[in-house]
Order: sequence, then structure tokens, then C-alpha cells
Amino acid sequence: MSAILLLLLVFLGLAYVVITAYSANLYFQETNQRLSKEIAPHIVTEVSPFLQDGNVSEDNVHEIMVRMMTINPSLEIYILSSEGKILDYVAPYKKIKLNFVSTKPIKEYLENEGNIFISGDDPRNPGKTKVFSAAEVNQDGKTLGYVYVILASEEYESVANMLYNNYMLKVGSQAFLFTLVATFILGLIFLWFITRNLNNIIQTVKRFKQGDLQARIPVKSKDELAQLSITFNDMAATILKQIEDLKTMGNLRRELVANVSHDLRTPISVIHGYIETLIIKEGNITEENRKKYLDIVLESTDKLKNLVTELFELSKLEARQIKPNIEPFFIAEMVQDIVQKYQLLAEEKKIKIKSEILADNSLVYADIALIERVLQNLIDNALKFTPEEGEIVIAVHQTETNLEVRVKDTGPGIPENQIPFIFDRYHKVSDEVVTPNKNGTGLGLAIVKKILEIHNTTIHLSSKLNEGTSFSFSLPKSPVPVETV
Ligand SMILES: Nc1ncnc2c1ncn2[C@@H]1O[C@H](COP(=O)(O)OP(=O)(O)O)[C@@H](O)[C@H]1O
Ligand SMILES: [Mg+2]
Repeated sequence: MSAILLLLLVFLGLAYVVITAYSANLYFQETNQRLSKEIAPHIVTEVSPFLQDGNVSEDNVHEIMVRMMTINPSLEIYILSSEGKILDYVAPYKKIKLNFVSTKPIKEYLENEGNIFISGDDPRNPGKTKVFSAAEVNQDGKTLGYVYVILASEEYESVANMLYNNYMLKVGSQAFLFTLVATFILGLIFLWFITRNLNNIIQTVKRFKQGDLQARIPVKSKDELAQLSITFNDMAATILKQIEDLKTMGNLRRELVANVSHDLRTPISVIHGYIETLIIKEGNITEENRKKYLDIVLESTDKLKNLVTELFELSKLEARQIKPNIEPFFIAEMVQDIVQKYQLLAEEKKIKIKSEILADNSLVYADIALIERVLQNLIDNALKFTPEEGEIVIAVHQTETNLEVRVKDTGPGIPENQIPFIFDRYHKVSDEVVTPNKNGTGLGLAIVKKILEIHNTTIHLSSKLNEGTSFSFSLPKSPVPVETV
């Protein structure tokens, strides 16, 4: 970075010197041209450069011109024809290379009466131009030619160049060196300021990388580096949170494995025990006991089957492997069908079950199979926990945009302190209070919650001890127009 700074400074310094030299030169030339405006007209009036016949009067011209050049050696004087042909000139060492000079800049100069900054051909250096002074020689309104004075002659230029180079070298290099050193020192101080903060950032990032997850960059200012620090700190916080989430998930998973093994082990030991007994007592067992044992085995395998199915379902839902297949359907019809199916089971348990449709025939937008699963789980629970003579109502209400489904029972209710945990997997209130364990897996409500989550909706619960429980959720109405059924 310091090297780049130095390079930049050298480049800028050189550019500065060149630009200054160039504009100083222009300034000098323009001043020179303005100040020397009178020279050419003066020559025309003092010397008559042309004879009556239109030829150049060499005697007149040479005499005055030599004198003038002695006084001011920076001049070169040319006599031109009206077309720009060089008829005569006085210049040291006689080395001119052009026979013609362009009259265009001369005419322009004369039109502006010399109040213009313009340069014309230099007869000694074809292709180069120099500032000049010029005047027209006129006879009876006819242009005989021009007096053309180059203001900085080659001699003058070589001397000026030498002095200029010396001067420029001395002053320029001194100023340049001084500026360079001063700016470089300032630059270094500036760099130190920036890198000091950068070092802070680098150190913190290193610490973070090495595992110090609490490492944060102190933010004191409001500049870009502070923005960077804030962004890093935010990122660190996010990473930390994700790591913690992963940890809790890991813990949950361990807990789950422990619970699953426990839950699987119980029915398996039961099955194992009874089958063993059946084998050992073969022949010595009453028909009644044999049937009893086999019933227990069957019940345990059912339980195992349910547990495995529900675990599988929940883990797929949690891994987001199940994508809802959203389509419009009549929720009221679904509710009526399900109530119909559960009628027999309810009668066996002496419970009344009925539907209550308080909505028009709207379609909802959801996954049919998954919503049916939600209703099943909720009704299963209601049936399981509601005592004899109780009642279960599945109601459908509507709002402007949604249809709401509510499963209400007259069961024992859920203690208020349990409500926040009721949807966690494996949570069974019965383990702790009130309701006896009804052989549940504890996964039903966790599945319900997940299914509604992937439908972007939530399950609500209101419950009063000894009065009953009511679960509800709502689904969006389908925009598809309803045909009369
Ligand atoms: N309708 C209800 N009335 C009373 N308690 C309920 C009801 N529904 C759920 N619960 C309580 O919530 C717990 C979790 O329910 P769930 O996840 O379906 O598991 P499971 O039915 O296997 O016990 C149940 O064990 C029960 O204690
Ligand atoms: Mg259940």
C-alpha cells in the first residue's frame, strides 16, 4: 500500500511539473506576442521593404533588420510575398528550410489587429509553429507582401531552453522533493490510522476463527470500517445462534432416540414375554389364557406399528421432505365424512359426535390428505380423553377470507401450565397429572402442528379443566368460484 502511494505521488508530481512548465511556456508566448505587436508595423513604416516595382529593397531591409536583431536577438525577420513566399530574411547562420509560409494565420492575426494569441509556420522548423508579429505592406490598396517576425528565434530558444531546464531542474526538483517527502509522511500517518483499525478487525476475526465465538470487534466510529465491524459482529451473532440451534437440535435428537428406544422396548418386551410364556406352557395353558395372551401381543404390535408410523411421519415433516400438495376442496364435506366414519367408535364409547357447518359451501386451499390427518389426530385425542356421555363437535365457521375448523370436546381439559408443551413431541399430560395414560405415542399433536406449519397456518388451543378442550385452525378460502353442488 505504501509502495502504491509512493508511485502515485511520483506520477502526480511529474504530471504537476509538466503541466506547470507547459502553461508557463504558453503564458510566456502569449505575453511575448502581445508585447511585440508593434514590431512588424514599425518595420513597415521605418523601412520601406519594397521598391516601387514591387521587388524587395534588399539594402533597406538588411540594414534595419540587422540593427534590430542586434538589439533583440530573439527576433527573426522575414519579408513575404502576398502568397507567403519568402522573398528575403535576416536570420543568423542562414539556415531556413521553407520557401513558403502559410498566410492563413497571418491574415487572421491582422484581422484581429494583433490582439490574438496565434502561432504561424516556423521557416526553420517545418511542421512546427511559433508566435509571431506581422504587418501588411500596402501600395495603392494592393498587398505587396508581409513583414513576418518570428518572436522567439532558434537562438533565443536554445538559450531559453538551457536556462529553463536548469531552472526547472533546480526549482522543480526541490519543490517536487519537498512535496514528495511531506505527502509521503502524511500518507504514512494516514495509512497507520487505517491499518491500526484494520489490525483490530483482523485480530478479532482470527480469534473468532480459532474458536473464540464471543470475539467481537469494538465499534467506535461511523466510517466504512465501523460498518464492516458491525456486519462482522452481526454475522458472528448469527453463527453463534445457529451453532446453539444445532446444539439444541442435537440434544433433542438424542432425547428422541432415548425416548424412541424406551417406547419401542416396552411393547417388544411385552410381546417377547407373552410369546415365551406361550411356548413354555404349550399344552398346559387354558384356552382362555392363551387368547388373553395373544390379544395382549396383538395390542402391543398395534402400538409398535403406530409408533413407528408416526415417528416416520414426523421426521419426514420435520426434514421438510413432505411438500403439501395444495388444491381446492370442500372442507365441510370432509368434516361430515370423518364424523360419519367415527360414529361407530364413538357409540361404542358412549360419546356423541356431530358436525356443525356454519359456513357456505366454500372451497379451501390445502393438502387434502394432510388436513384429513390433522382432523383424525384431533378427533382421536378427543375420543381418547373424553369420558362416557361426553360430546364431540366438529364445527366449520367462516370469515371473509378463511374457513375455520374447530374440534371441541367435553373432556377433562388440559392444565394451563401444560398448554405450552402440549405440541412438543412425546409430551403426554397423562404422565404427570389428571388423565390416565391412554397408550398414546405423544406424537399426534406434534404432527398436527407441523402439518399446519407447512400450510403457513397455526393451531389454536383453548381448554378449561373439567369442562373441555377445543382445538382450532383456519385455512384460506380458494379463489376458485364455487359451483352449486
Ligand atoms: N382433547 C384433549 N383433551 C385432553 N387432553 C388432551 C387432548 N388432546 C391432547 N391432550 C393431551 O395432550 C397430550 C399429547 O397429545 P398427542 O400429541 O396427541 O399424544 P397422545 O395422543 O399420543 O398422547 C396427550 O397425551 C394429552 O395429555
Ligand atoms: Mg394423540
